[in-house]
Amino acid sequence: MAEPYILVLYYSRHGATAAMASQVARGVETIAGIGARLRTVPAISATCEAVEDTIPADGPLYCELDELAACAGLVLGSPTRFGNMAAPLKYFLDQSSGLWLSGALIDKPAAVFTSTSSLHGGQESTLLSMLLPLLHHGMVVAGLPYSEPGLMTATAGGTPYGASHWAGPDNQKRLDPQEAALCRALGARVGRLALSLGQHSGDAS
Ligand SMILES: Cc1cc2nc3c(=O)[nH]c(=O)nc-3n(C[C@H](O)[C@H](O)[C@H](O)COP(=O)(O)O)c2cc1C
Repeated sequence: MAEPYILVLYYSRHGATAAMASQVARGVETIAGIGARLRTVPAISATCEAVEDTIPADGPLYCELDELAACAGLVLGSPTRFGNMAAPLKYFLDQSSGLWLSGALIDKPAAVFTSTSSLHGGQESTLLSMLLPLLHHGMVVAGLPYSEPGLMTATAGGTPYGASHWAGPDNQKRLDPQEAALCRALGARVGRLALSLGQHSGDAS
């Protein structure tokens, strides 16, 4: 049987959410018996549907709906856009009604992460709104528990609703050690939950 995987699915325009995604994946990989699969989504245009190459120039591959269907759990990441998730990720999720109809994601664990330029610029509203489509899919949502010490001492990102990062006005701030540790904790938690919820299968690819 193929190894089960947690799908770490994100969109990133300038790299901050991508940096979080790799820490989440590192956290997943600390859990024996489950792997991480990093995937992204293509950008879309506000004026017309952009035609992107089917393979990105660099970084993770674009996610296929089959990979979403076959995951053992999902960690979804987006930059904050006006207090909400970015359109390319929403566009991808809006194509997942077939999975909703078949119930492919029911009882699988899910968690979310985001990056913002300002410290109080909508991290929590973005995280909470990202959970809504996952609840419609019947996923079991997981946040970060306060047993994670970084939640009480954070001076940048870090919320009980999911991992977050304060990237600064020019997106120049790197993940600080606490933000990175919380990303890893989130990935590890979803990995552990997938196994304890009995999500032991992956696809054949
Ligand atoms: C259209 C747009 C809307 C944005 N809205 C917000 C916002 O509401 N609050 C905020 O703090 N940052 C906002 N930002 C900044 C991004 O969230 C921030 O730069 C983020 O770290 C980018 O992540 P990335 O490097 O993964 O693309 C916005 C950026 C864009 C382009």
